[in-house]
This record gives sequence, structure tokens and C-alpha cells, in this order.
Amino acid sequence: MHLSTKSIHAGDSLKRVSDVIPPINISTTFSYSSNPDELVAIGDLEGTIAGSSQYIYSRENHPNAAIVEKTIESITGAHAITYNSGLGAFNGLITLVNPKTLVIGQAYHGCHGIADIWERNYGLKKLDIDCSDEEFDKLVKPGDLVHLETPVNPYGVNLEIAKYAKRAHAKGAILSVDATFAPPPLMDPFKFGADIVMHSATKFFGGHSDLLAGILLTKSLETKKKLLSDRLVLGTNIGNLESALLVRSLRTFELRIMRQSKSAEFIVKYLNENKSKFADLDIIYHGSLQTDAYIKEQMPLGQSPVFAIELKSEDAAKRLPSKLKLFHHATSLGGAESLIEWRALTDAHISRRLLRVSIGLEDPRDLLADLVGGLGGDDDLVGKIAELSL
Ligand SMILES: Cc1ncc(COP(=O)(O)O)c(C=O)c1O
Repeated sequence: MHLSTKSIHAGDSLKRVSDVIPPINISTTFSYSSNPDELVAIGDLEGTIAGSSQYIYSRENHPNAAIVEKTIESITGAHAITYNSGLGAFNGLITLVNPKTLVIGQAYHGCHGIADIWERNYGLKKLDIDCSDEEFDKLVKPGDLVHLETPVNPYGVNLEIAKYAKRAHAKGAILSVDATFAPPPLMDPFKFGADIVMHSATKFFGGHSDLLAGILLTKSLETKKKLLSDRLVLGTNIGNLESALLVRSLRTFELRIMRQSKSAEFIVKYLNENKSKFADLDIIYHGSLQTDAYIKEQMPLGQSPVFAIELKSEDAAKRLPSKLKLFHHATSLGGAESLIEWRALTDAHISRRLLRVSIGLEDPRDLLADLVGGLGGDDDLVGKIAELSL
């Protein structure tokens, strides 16, 4: 089966009723067998109840979460563990690996926030991902964690996974990749050496800005079992309602991702080729503008639907969102609706001249015309955009 078929049918065998769309299950608890001979005391079971095939309690598992995991496993070819948010997933990851040193660079500020808690509580050491070889060799020990985010937030620019994998593995460290900005089929981090892949499923997997969820992917069944058993007691499983929304979202997964990626590339190409026409536009950041040899291999089908622009002044950046009609001025990304965000509102460490743009499912010509108008393009320039072919 191909990706779009899997994303609709991979969970079919788990359906419990004849409804074409699996119903929302709100029950937190499930009746045990009415046959006493089928009841087994937990002390007589191997391991914990996590991952058991029967539903017992929804903090462990529930019907739509099982469909979500089965579907994502089919799409990615890896074991999938879902969480109640992307940060819930990162928390599960760091708790499992329990590193003494975390090697991390530009990455979602919430992941840094969790690392800061670990620094405070357990004496975790943080090391910059682009530190010198000498520092890396001295400080990184087997079992430590290298956490790479690519494409990196908020720029939508790629970093070479294979390079970081080689460096991590040479010291016996584990490489995790936050691939939120490039969901399948755009990128498969396992191909380039990732040990664990993380997604904020709130973004592209969810795709409708109406659910919070996270995913960890692993090729190791043993790791999956450990993550499931930790998740059970950390209380970080995906919620019942959210999992039903995510089943809905997966049905259109490939269509959305490919369209959003193509639209972003179309818009970035135009802005880059016509940059001199916009007095305020200083820098455009996006994977489609990178020329490194590894890019085509790592992102063979297209680039992230997210890019960033830096304007020439803080004031211009702050005002641009209010000039646009089709972009909501809001944080987050990956939804059907295009978003723009003056990043200084949520990230204290980013240039105040920077705006992050998440391209949705609208016609890219309409989005481009809106952006061009906002950037000061005259009516003639805006009018011509409607005639562009895609
Ligand atoms: C790259 C990246 N990783 C992780 C997260 C955290 O995900 P969540 O908001 O689902 O907890 C985000 C959220 O914006 C993100 O952009």
C-alpha cells in the first residue's frame, strides 16, 4: 500500500463497530471479561499492562489512540508512541534516555525548558550541538543524548542528520531528531542515522489547529515497550477526544503535506526572485534556498511548509501581520490556515525583525498576493500574481 492508502486504511483492522468513521470513545475505563477463567492477576503477567491488547484504562490505551499508532506505524515503518503533546513526547524521550549530558542547539524553546528543569533537578549538563570536536569528545559519554531539530524552528532550514548521527554514534550517544517541520513523506530521519524521531503532532499530523499531540518513533521494540511503560505512569498518553480528531486528520495527511510544501516553495521562490522590489525585506530563510549537496537526499520530495523572513526593522516586522488578510497572526504551524507570527512575541532569544510563516491549504497565489501587498507591492504587482501558473 502507498502512503495515502495507509493513512486511511491502516487502522481498519482495529475498528470495533461498522461505522465508516471510528466513533469518539470517551470512556476512561473498559469492562474486564465476564468469563472468570479469562481473568489473569497482574502479578502473573509479564511486564506491565502497558501495550496489552485489551483496553483497561485510557491512561494506558484506548481505541482511537490504537488506530492512530497503528496508522502512524504503517506510514513511517517504525514503532509509534503517541503523547498528549509534542513536549509530552520530549519529556518521555529524556526520561527514557536519562542522559548526563544533553547536546542541543537551536531547537523549540519548550525542549530547552524541559532540559533546564533537568539541569535544576538532576544536574544535567547542556552542550551546544555545534561545539568543537575537542569539547564533544571530552564531555559526551555513552548513553548521552544528542537532540537535533531539522528543519529548524523558526527558519525551516535543514541541518545534515548524517553528520550529527556520525558524531553522536562515535561516542555511543543516542541521536534524536525533532522532525516536526518535515513530517513524512518529506523526510525519513532513520535513513540518515536517527535513533529516535519526535514530532509535535499538534502541527502537521493534526493539521487543523484543533488538537495537541506528540509522537515518538523508534525502530526498537524494546524501546517502544519501555516508552509505553513510562508513559503509563507519567500520565502522558494522548487524550480520547484528541485521538479521534487525529484519526480524522490522518485521512488527508499526504495531500495536505505535499500541497503545503509545494505552496511554500512557490511563495519563497517568488519572494526571493523579486526581493529587490520590497524595501523592507532583508533575509528569507527556507530549505529551498539551501544549495548543500545533502539537501536533495534528506528532503527528496520538497521542503518544509514553514519559512521565515527578516525585515529591515523591528517596527516593520511588528506591523506586517496586521496588514495581511489571509494570514492569522498566531503562533503554531501546520494547520489548513496560514499563520504568520512576529516571533519576538514567544521567543526571547530570536531576532526582533523576524516573522515565521506557516503555509496552509489556501491557493498559494492568494497567499502570495496578500504577502506582497503587505510588503508594500503596488496594485499592478499584486494583480499579476493571480495570473501566475503553479
Ligand atoms: C519543533 C517543535 N517541537 C516541539 C514542539 C512542542 O510541541 P507541542 O506544542 O505539541 O507540545 C513545537 C511546538 O511548537 C515545535 O515547533
